[in-house]
Amino acid sequence: MKLTIIGSGYVGLTTGACFAEVGHEVICVDNNEEKIKTLLAGDIPIYEPGLADIVTKNVAAGRLKFTTDTPEGVDHGDVVFIAVPTPPNPDGSVDLKYIEKVAREIAPAIQDYKVIVDKSTVPVKTGEKVTETISRYAPEAEFDVVSNPEFLREGCAVADLMNPDRVVIGANSDRAMALMQKIYEPFHAPVLATDINSAELIKHAANSFLALKISYINAVSAICEASGADVELVAEGIGMDNRIGRAFLNAGLGYGGSCFPKDIAAFIAISDDLGVPFTLLKEVEKINRDQLDRFVKRIREKLWVLEDKEVAVWGLAFKPDTDDTRSSVAIELVEKLVAEGAKVRAFDPKAMEHVKNSPLGEKITLCDSPEAAADGAETLIVATEWPEFASADFSSIRDKMIAPVVFDGRNLLDPKTMEKLGFEYHGVGRGRPAEAS
Ligand code: UGA
Repeated sequence: MKLTIIGSGYVGLTTGACFAEVGHEVICVDNNEEKIKTLLAGDIPIYEPGLADIVTKNVAAGRLKFTTDTPEGVDHGDVVFIAVPTPPNPDGSVDLKYIEKVAREIAPAIQDYKVIVDKSTVPVKTGEKVTETISRYAPEAEFDVVSNPEFLREGCAVADLMNPDRVVIGANSDRAMALMQKIYEPFHAPVLATDINSAELIKHAANSFLALKISYINAVSAICEASGADVELVAEGIGMDNRIGRAFLNAGLGYGGSCFPKDIAAFIAISDDLGVPFTLLKEVEKINRDQLDRFVKRIREKLWVLEDKEVAVWGLAFKPDTDDTRSSVAIELVEKLVAEGAKVRAFDPKAMEHVKNSPLGEKITLCDSPEAAADGAETLIVATEWPEFASADFSSIRDKMIAPVVFDGRNLLDPKTMEKLGFEYHGVGRGRPAEAS
């Protein structure tokens, strides 16, 4: 099928590439000329495992094209996906100006029947607004609006798109629903057909539930620390119940990234707006903030005074397998340490470039390797669970540190192994009783 994706950011680019991979003819549109130039030159502006390969392959096959011209894009596709950013307003509500702008730009370019799909994460009832806007600027246009939320995770976006757990299609017209189902046929995934409002809600409700699971286990981790229990065992024990499941019960520094913090704040604002405040989610946010504060407090208690202390931080990306540092808890942690005068020596396998070019880059030392970051440090903090950190040469690292103390913010390392190697190990919620240590 002929498909157009407007907005070639994380979601737009990976979605476009995966649609091309299954045989659709795709044009990705973006108003950022630099980005389109980069893509036309064969470079990928983000790091996402497997993405570069499928982009290159499908560009070569002529199934994936890029342009800055919205009318050209609209003309190409039978179905036009909107995948532009939906950033937060200062009060947590969603700023929909880019969606509105694209709806206005699409309207005059519609010559024959089009399905306009909202892929961006938007508040419930946005589909109605997009419909109204297109009708206002192009009263004669023949079109349907559809909500088709995205459930990809950064770091495994290609796999999530190629093998989705489910595809949610919210449409109020059979014609649009049939076209959408045809697009997804090659993916062989279960399709849930809903009305537009329900599909929009599914996205915010899903992300909020996952964040709730994380905050739940983090609240339990605080109780584990206070009582001497091990949150890893507790998570395993409750996760073995199929009704609960083990996924997203990894205690740590809390959730970050470009989705959860923004989407939870948005869902709170949406529920307030609808007159049915979702107060449980405010507690989810509070637990997430407290989790980082409690961790910093424990580091402060250990080092007594943070000022002038050399502190190694491993990991800056918001999670492994990405170079994305947006709303990264690792970055928040570094900022807190820097604010207290600590001398941070950081390393991340993929996110160094972003940090180097940010104001924080001037306030910390960016090192070439995990070992270099730990050299001369008084404590080592694991802030992102990159798998390669677990296989570092800890014997040599121990000898290079001023004091072999590890604060493992993602419970990546094995406490017993670290202690055998001579480290003082502090995880999250791993307060083992005295006799077991
Ligand atoms: C999340 C959702 O998982 C996707 O389904 C959704 O499509 C996406 O948001 C989106 O709305 O676009 P993503 O933000 O890429 O995906 O990353 P996650 O793997 O969900 O991790 C989010 C944060 O939660 C990370 O900071 C991670 O470290 C943290 N996390 C995750 C935990 O602290 N514990 C866990 O058990 C799992």
